[in-house]
Amino acid sequence: MLGVTTLYTIMIVMERIDRKRNAALIGGGQKRIDAQHKRGKLTARERVELLLDKDSFVEYDMFVEHRCSDFGMEEDHNKFAGDSVVTGQGRINGRLVYVFSQDFTVFGGSLSGAHAQKICKIMDQAVMVGAPVIGLNDSGGARIQEGVESLAGYADIFLRNVLASGVVPQISLIMGPCAGGAVYSPALTDFTFMVKDTSYLFITGPDVVKSVTNEDVTQEELGGAKTHTAVSGVAHRAFENDIDALLNLRNFFNFLPLSNQDPAPVTECHDPSDRLVPGLDTIVPFETTKAYDMLDIIQGIVDEREFFEIMPNYAKNIVVGFARMNGRTVGIVGNQPKVASGCLDINSSVKGARFVRFCDAFNIPILTFVDVPGFLPGTSQEYGGIIRHGAKLLFAFAEATVPKITIITRKAYGGAYDVMSSKHLRGDVNYAWPSAEVAVMGAKGAVQIIFRGKSNQAEQEAEYVEKFANPFPAAVRGFVDDIIVPSTTRKRICRDLEVLASKKQTNPWKKHANIPL
Ligand code: HXC
Repeated sequence: MLGVTTLYTIMIVMERIDRKRNAALIGGGQKRIDAQHKRGKLTARERVELLLDKDSFVEYDMFVEHRCSDFGMEEDHNKFAGDSVVTGQGRINGRLVYVFSQDFTVFGGSLSGAHAQKICKIMDQAVMVGAPVIGLNDSGGARIQEGVESLAGYADIFLRNVLASGVVPQISLIMGPCAGGAVYSPALTDFTFMVKDTSYLFITGPDVVKSVTNEDVTQEELGGAKTHTAVSGVAHRAFENDIDALLNLRNFFNFLPLSNQDPAPVTECHDPSDRLVPGLDTIVPFETTKAYDMLDIIQGIVDEREFFEIMPNYAKNIVVGFARMNGRTVGIVGNQPKVASGCLDINSSVKGARFVRFCDAFNIPILTFVDVPGFLPGTSQEYGGIIRHGAKLLFAFAEATVPKITIITRKAYGGAYDVMSSKHLRGDVNYAWPSAEVAVMGAKGAVQIIFRGKSNQAEQEAEYVEKFANPFPAAVRGFVDDIIVPSTTRKRICRDLEVLASKKQTNPWKKHANIPL
């Protein structure tokens, strides 16, 4: 029998637990929640609710408080149960994920030592059990009152971002401010998404920019969603508002494996794997200089036309993104003839390389659609280091050991032919469409060089076209495995992926490779 005093003590503790839990649920209080809503932003908890399956969230560390005792921080009204971040795990379509969601209503979501510790705890567990980490970022950066404690907290997170890289997928959604060194955690993760008009990322804000460089720039111009998805390439996609972003994130999550030990997910497919795509037989224009949209080919081939494009507004001369073939996730890379004739340049090489490396790290087969006239010439590209950056894409395709299927739809010229998942870089199945041309360069340029000053250039050009502007020179050497009817492409790829599902290939042992950075 428990004594009256013991019962009383238990009741007091229970009441205290309830009080703390309820306090944690309202973060910085109703006034600040209202202010958050007024800006068109959801609260940290509302975001978690929307992101995860109903009732699946299991919260950790609701009782954690900051430990700062300077600047009046020790006073009760400056202590918030859970501090400025909500952390835990839950499910997206039944699959495990770890989440942190920064609470702007508590000290502007700023990062205290305790806040960092909460994030580190879920990151450590995510790596141990093999599940992705999603960070919902909305923070004024380092907790100014805590000084170096806060900087240490960032470094603890950065280290974990790096150690988790290639082990579990890491995704950042920027839903408010993200400034100073705080930007480096999202930058270390695999994908960074933003919310239009309410989120921004920058190293130093407009005031510092003005004082150092005398430039006048708004927050939005400096680090808004448009800047980072179209100009800097820091962010991979932007969404209309919090709800749109979180629903898209749920959809995106369905493409990803849980860890590098798991296969890419397979979903039920209602789109027949042997479906013919008749439109593809006439999609490549007869005139070789005429553009067409590589997205039409990709959407025609993949399951249900569903293609989740990554960086759709940046380096548009290359298209990358996720889709499914017969229910299996695939990563797709395609030259885009509609933009700069699909030439490879610095930005498109880096965009492609990072994507290929993600797919390879997480066992996602890569489909490559090739129509590339070469690397973009010019001083700005050479001075910018196209040699170094182009080498990244070459490196990424060459080191990748996941199933690699390549389809040359039209041009595969020069070094770019080699780079784009060619047979020579261990492409498993390489196809050419009848419209494919595998050559050192286009006929006109070739003839101008090798028959310079000769009178019969038109004749020579015709001969060059006959000799090289077709798929046979590559096919007779086995550099493409077959020349296929375009409408059968989906059927062929689905069958090949089935065969390649058990592919095993390893690279020589090394501590790590040294990709040209
Ligand atoms: C402590 C902070 C804070 C911070 C905001 N708050 N940022 N508290 N540390 N870093 C508090 C505010 O005092 C305020 O408290 C509440 O959060 C909301 O902030 P407001 O300024 O009212 O909101 P808003 O007008 O929307 O402006 C948001 C903001 C601004 C742009 C983020 O607060 C701001 O500029 N904050 C400082 C940003 C900064 O310089 N951070 C350090 C970056 S350096 P009350 O009580 O009034 O509600 C850094 C180094 C990391 O992060 C290095 C890692 C290697």
